Formats: sequence, structure tokens, C-alpha cells
Amino acid sequence: MTEWTPDARELADLELLLSGAFAPLTGFLTSADASAVAENGTLSDGTPWPDPITLALPDDVPPGARVTLKDPEGAAVAVLTVEERDGHHAAGPVKALDVPVFGPFARLRRTPDEVRKDLPHGEILAVTMRGPLDSTVLEDVAATAEELEATVVLMPLVFGEGGPAVVRAALKASERLPGSTVVAVPLAPREDTEIDLELREHVARNYGATEHYAGPAPIVIPGPPHRRGLVVFFTGLSGSGKSTVARGLRDTLLERGGRTVTYLDGDVVRRLLSAGLTFSREDRDLNIRRIGFVAAEVARHGGLAICAPIAPYASTRDEVRAMVEEVGADFLLVHVATPLEECERRDRKGLYAKARAGLIPEFTGISDPYEEPDDAELVLDTTGMTVERSVNTVLNLLTSGGWIR
Ligand code: ADX
Repeated sequence: MTEWTPDARELADLELLLSGAFAPLTGFLTSADASAVAENGTLSDGTPWPDPITLALPDDVPPGARVTLKDPEGAAVAVLTVEERDGHHAAGPVKALDVPVFGPFARLRRTPDEVRKDLPHGEILAVTMRGPLDSTVLEDVAATAEELEATVVLMPLVFGEGGPAVVRAALKASERLPGSTVVAVPLAPREDTEIDLELREHVARNYGATEHYAGPAPIVIPGPPHRRGLVVFFTGLSGSGKSTVARGLRDTLLERGGRTVTYLDGDVVRRLLSAGLTFSREDRDLNIRRIGFVAAEVARHGGLAICAPIAPYASTRDEVRAMVEEVGADFLLVHVATPLEECERRDRKGLYAKARAGLIPEFTGISDPYEEPDDAELVLDTTGMTVERSVNTVLNLLTSGGWIR
């Protein structure tokens, strides 16, 4: 049987399909249903449904296949029976496997059935929340509940980094709303606010709501840059000066203080984290993804990571940028654009001479590609530049953006 790990959004949708929160849906939509939803806001049989719930699968999984869907930790969550392939998407019913639910506040992620059987008869006011409720909203909810003589169900919509904070806000709000319950629902936000609201309403009704109160969208104020995580990612040919400038930057930041610094040098990484990897495209990509993974973890906690691998492929650099931005941190790409001739003239490690002599295959710049970035925040040619001046150029970028003070 084929196995597949859907992305975080798809897994969140899967949980709702399995729990019954997306009823009447019992699986990922066929192309007919998905296009009916996009065109008319209904499934192809006319049932109202606001958003196409789809799953991307590798192209080589044929209709008829049974696919075990796993979470990132490798636990099998459900089995999908593929009924149709439409481009990258796969449609078909999903069946839950009996696995414990993980994650913060997992005990509050109850199914509609479980919640409904605990609710009293009468009006149910569901409040879907993407952020905390301020006191005005809380009073409004309380007044509405009183007027309708309704029981309040607070439904924090948990997805991603902010999930636990929304649940904490809901628990706090429930203290002020006598008789209310809290149910955490892993509903990822939809880009279109209209669709997002409609979907919230559908889910709320499945949980037994007779009325839906959409909690206001939170006003997200990102922390100041000097408190946000930051990844300074140097890319460039071997001998371009990446490590030298990166180390200079690290040292200066440590001398000034005020930020924690993790330095991930290309050569150092290859001695432990990426030991055993070759210089094939596949292994280089894996090397860069590992560096990106560590850097993103550092940045997740507000740290500053400096990376200095060659990172010759644009798509892999893009992936790292996305990984870092995903955790709410900033990413700066510094292209150390010292020309090949100058790198080869320096040849500090004697590698270019060996590569020219055919002793090192797949050598970047000689017998292997380097894709020049077109999205670098800074381009630095170190030819004839002192190390101090190069480091200062990077420092100026950090200062002008507010990342260091
Ligand atoms: S990357 O392509 O995966 O980003 P990385 O920065 O880790 O490369 O390693 C580059 C270092 O490995 C170079 O500075 C050089 O010292 C050494 N090296 C050994 N073989 C090669 C090769 N074929 N191509 C490039 N660098 C190599």
C-alpha cells in the first residue's frame, strides 16, 4: 500500500473530514464537485458547500489505489481510496485509523458527535475564534446568548503557530461566559474572507450551532524586527568569501551583544549534520534543506542564524526562505557574487586547480551549475574589498532593517 504525508493544511482538513465537522463531506472532492463549488458554491448535487476540499498526491498514484495518509511524525491517520485523479489532485473517501490525537490542547479537539451529545436542547450559539475576544466583543456575545437563551460554544480555530494562543484566549473567555464550552477545531484559514466565514458557519452548524457568531479577525502586530527571528543566508561560489564574511558578521554580532547567534558554515555542516552526503544535485538539496530546517528552528525562537553554504540551486534557496517565513521569521539572502575568475585566482583550498585537472567531479562553477539569485536582498562582490568593509555592508543592511540596534 502507498503511503503519503499531506501538508499541514491538508491534514487539518483531513481531521475535519474524519470527525464529521465537514459533513456532508466524507472525502476529498472530485473534480466535478470542486468545480461546482468554485462556480456555484454547491457540490454537483446542489448541496451548498463553500470551499473545495482537495488533496495533492504524487502523479504516479493511480485511481483505485489505497493510500495510507500519515502525519509528519509517521503515524498513520487515515486510508484514502483514490477514486479519481485530476492533475495533482486525488479524490476519494477517507477512513479513519484509530490513532490518538496529538498536539497542544488535543483533549479539546472533540468531534461534533461528542460535543452535541453533551449540549442541552435549545439554542446553541457557536463563536468561532481566530484570535482573542476583547471585552466589547465578549459583552456582545454574552448579551446575544442571554437574548437567545442560548448555550455558548467557543470554537477556537487552531492552525499553525498561533493555535495554542487562540485556545488559551477561548478558555479565558469561557470563564466570563457561564455555562459555555470550548471546542478546538483545526480549521485552517481561507484566503477569501467570505468563503472563510461560510466554512466557519458550516462547521459550527455541524457542531450543533443554531446561531453563529464570527469572532473578529485578529489584528496581527508582528514584533519589532530586533525581536523577530532572522536568517542571514549567504550563497556563492567556493572561495567567494562567504565563510569569511559570515564569520566576521557572527563575531561582530557577538561583540555587540543583544542577539543570540547560530552559525551554520557549509564546511562545518558537512562534517556532522550532512556527513556522508555527496555533491550530487540530490545531496546538495538535502544538505541545504537540513541547514534550512535548523536555521528555521533557531529563528522560530527569535534567534539569529547565519548560514554560508554554496546553495547553488534557486528552487532550494526558495524552499529555505519559505521554511523560515513559515515560522514568522525574516530571511535575508546575501549573494556573495565574487566572480569565478577571482575565486579561482584565490583558490585558497587548492580545489579549483584539482577540479580543472578533473580530480574533483561536479565542482561548482567548473563542472557543476551555480544558479545566480535574482532575489538577493544584498549582492556583495568581495573582489578588492577588505573583510571589514564586506562585514559592514551586511551590518548596515541589518541595522537599516531594524534587525539590530
Ligand atoms: S552545497 O552545494 O551543498 O551548498 P557546501 O557549501 O555544503 O555545498 O560545500 C561546499 C564546500 O565543499 C566547498 O567550499 C568546498 O570546500 C567543498 N567541495 C568539495 N567538493 C565540492 C564540489 N564538487 N563542489 C563544490 N564544493 C565542493
